[in-house]
Amino acid sequence: MTSSRILLEELGARAAVCTACSLAATRNHVVFADGNPEADLMFVGEAPGSNEDLQGLPFVGAAGKLLDRLLGEIGIKREDVYIANVIKCRPPGNRDPRPEEIDACQDFLRMQLSLVDPRVVVTLGNVATKLLLKRDVGITRLRGQAYPWWNRQLVPTFHPAAALRGGDRVLEEMRQDFALVATLLRTPPAADPVTAAADPEQLGLFE
Ligand code: URA
Repeated sequence: MTSSRILLEELGARAAVCTACSLAATRNHVVFADGNPEADLMFVGEAPGSNEDLQGLPFVGAAGKLLDRLLGEIGIKREDVYIANVIKCRPPGNRDPRPEEIDACQDFLRMQLSLVDPRVVVTLGNVATKLLLKRDVGITRLRGQAYPWWNRQLVPTFHPAAALRGGDRVLEEMRQDFALVATLLRTPPAADPVTAAADPEQLGLFE
């Protein structure tokens, strides 16, 4: 097993017993991640919902089925990508994560991004996009392009739950964003000795 896989397993074990915020009291399972820890493509969602909380896996409900479908349309299987959320425990009633919950959880995501080391990161919805891209602009305006981010490409898109609510226009724009992801993954990475040495963990990924 590679050292990154081992470290991710250790991190997952730490998350499984985490009590850093009050969500520990109401969760059924910590939802750490799913998929390939050596993936070129990583998704960052918002927070587990009720299905995820029951099964301990991210994106296994209706939004997850749509994510799987959009991936399938660009020829990628769910097991070939890595999927995580900004926070690892379900907020009661699926309310938005609170700033203190995001703060308490963000080292897990920071380490996941660093250890998986994907070439392309897709943020699903406003919460993940705001945390990673540090832009106070809504997803509707930010989506549709890739942003250079810590020697990677970051593609913000809608949360699949928004497509389930918002219908064909949102779905069509998500399809465009997934097509962009497919293009980025086909493009060989440019060698840049200066930024290639940058370690997002050391450099303070979310600062
Ligand atoms: N929504 C999310 O943001 N994450 C999940 O895991 C499920 C639904």
